[in-house]
Amino acid sequence: VILTVTANPALDVTYDVDRLVPHASHRVRRVREVAGGKGLNVSSVLTQHGIPTIATGMVGGGAGALLRADLAARGVAHDFGELAHETRRTVTVVGLADGDATAFNEPGAPWTPAEAEAFLRQVSGLLRREGPAVLVVSGSVPPGFPPDGYAQLTSLGHDVGCQVVVDASGGPLLGSLSAHPDVVKPNRDELRSVTGLQDAVAGAKALQDMGARHVVVSLGADGMVLLRPDGSVMRAAPGEALRGNPTGAGDAGVAAVAAGLAREAEWAPILVDAVAWSAAAVLQPVAGSVDLADIDRLRTGVRLAPPER
Ligand SMILES: Nc1ncnc2c1ncn2[C@@H]1O[C@H](COP(=O)(O)OP(=O)(O)OP(=O)(O)O)[C@@H](O)[C@H]1O
Ligand SMILES: [Mg+2]
Repeated sequence: VILTVTANPALDVTYDVDRLVPHASHRVRRVREVAGGKGLNVSSVLTQHGIPTIATGMVGGGAGALLRADLAARGVAHDFGELAHETRRTVTVVGLADGDATAFNEPGAPWTPAEAEAFLRQVSGLLRREGPAVLVVSGSVPPGFPPDGYAQLTSLGHDVGCQVVVDASGGPLLGSLSAHPDVVKPNRDELRSVTGLQDAVAGAKALQDMGARHVVVSLGADGMVLLRPDGSVMRAAPGEALRGNPTGAGDAGVAAVAAGLAREAEWAPILVDAVAWSAAAVLQPVAGSVDLADIDRLRTGVRLAPPER
């Protein structure tokens, strides 16, 4: 099984209005409430492939109940700990006339030390009970989250013999490195912001010097570059740049990496899958979703460059 951790999930609320006008009052044509969070997207994509996964994290209150209910409705297995406070919401107002979206993202209440402890207990309990092959740690962290929280999760995973994939940015990404995550997957901007380096291979090397084992840098329509612990480099790119919704494409790529590690695949097919799954996610209007027929078609177009040193 693949265990995904989302430290900072949200209930994503979307309001459709005819046209968003400041200072005016609006009739909402439709309300959607869905579970939001990068680890949840990973579990959702794995579920669509029929690959066993459990999503975890902490949720609370009415928004937490709706988040759980949405995952249940989509068949995504989950086991969350209980927050003492309400799960945060994001609200996106979409103007139907022009499709323009305006977002309001709640920060969520700060975690208390007791909530942080309960979170680590929740994850370690699942690690012991489920014995997952891979632990995926994805996304931002809530206010009050311990600075070494992602390093602690990585160590908890390693303690039970599982491989750990971290997809985070800024402090949480840097904070995880001392625990030697097996794979980190920054995108180009995230890599530049934590290393100051523009070049993907040079930036990946800097993350390795800080403790990461494999580094997969995602480069949008340019695909992905992998730096392995032995210093070799492998690149894969989609057959063509696609138009669509790139939000959550990285999460689909992480799902493919986790699935590949779980089945002990070689890195060449893992990288091809990661590019195909993430490209397929671009074609879907919502994050955390892929069409398996798109993946089969796109996989044949992926260009894998021979390894470089
Ligand atoms: N326009 C595109 N056409 C084809 N493939 C794409 C396109 N954009 C992204 N991809 C695929 O998706 C992968 C991840 O994209 P990107 O680097 O934007 O991730 P990200 O910023 O981490 O995304 P996320 O919103 O999930 O965090 C790329 O490596 C590539 O394989
Ligand atoms: Mg990303």
